Amino acid sequence: MKLIGISGALRRASTNTGLLRALQALLPPGIAMDIATLHGIPPFDEDLIAASGKPDVVTALAEKIRQADGIIIATPEYQFSVPGVLKNANDWLSTCNAPFKWKRTGVVGASAGAMAGTARAQYHLRQNLQALQAIVMPRPEIMIVHNELKFDADGNLTDAETRERLHKWLEAFLEWVEKKP
Ligand SMILES: Cc1cc2nc3c(=O)[nH]c(=O)nc-3n(C[C@H](O)[C@H](O)[C@H](O)COP(=O)(O)O)c2cc1C
Repeated sequence: MKLIGISGALRRASTNTGLLRALQALLPPGIAMDIATLHGIPPFDEDLIAASGKPDVVTALAEKIRQADGIIIATPEYQFSVPGVLKNANDWLSTCNAPFKWKRTGVVGASAGAMAGTARAQYHLRQNLQALQAIVMPRPEIMIVHNELKFDADGNLTDAETRERLHKWLEAFLEWVEKKP
């Protein structure tokens, strides 16, 4: 089984990118996950397509999604919603012959403080992924609050209880991707 992780954050010490690294480390033997970055994706602009075609960074991401059996998106929450870079990437991907079509997709996220642990962003992302024809795992969900207490300054997960929750989530996700119920 081949997975791809996509982080909705660009910053080096992102806890959401760290969440994907933590998932990577929990994968059983024989299952690999690449982590894709959204760096370098320009703002969506149809005039850009008309002038020079789709950016290579977008077509390469679309191809990685197409090749994957499962996709895990780790999204921060910005202004109670999905970060602009992630929504922008999805707008570009919608022009790439439906790379998400029928793809098993999981959504995870970590945010600061005691608010909603990215719940609002995750639900906006689910709506977005519906348009892209992804099949998003209904449950379990994982919404991590207080990331400032659970990750170090480099964005690496340090909290054992969160790692255990993440492990359970991952086991459910892998079973769901494998069995395609
Ligand atoms: C522009 C901006 C908007 C934010 N809006 C929210 C928000 O609506 N809800 C929330 O829980 N956290 C919000 N935060 C705090 C993020 O949860 C926190 O910065 C988190 O660490 C971002 O994820 P990252 O570590 O992957 O970069 C916001 C942060 C930024 C920079």
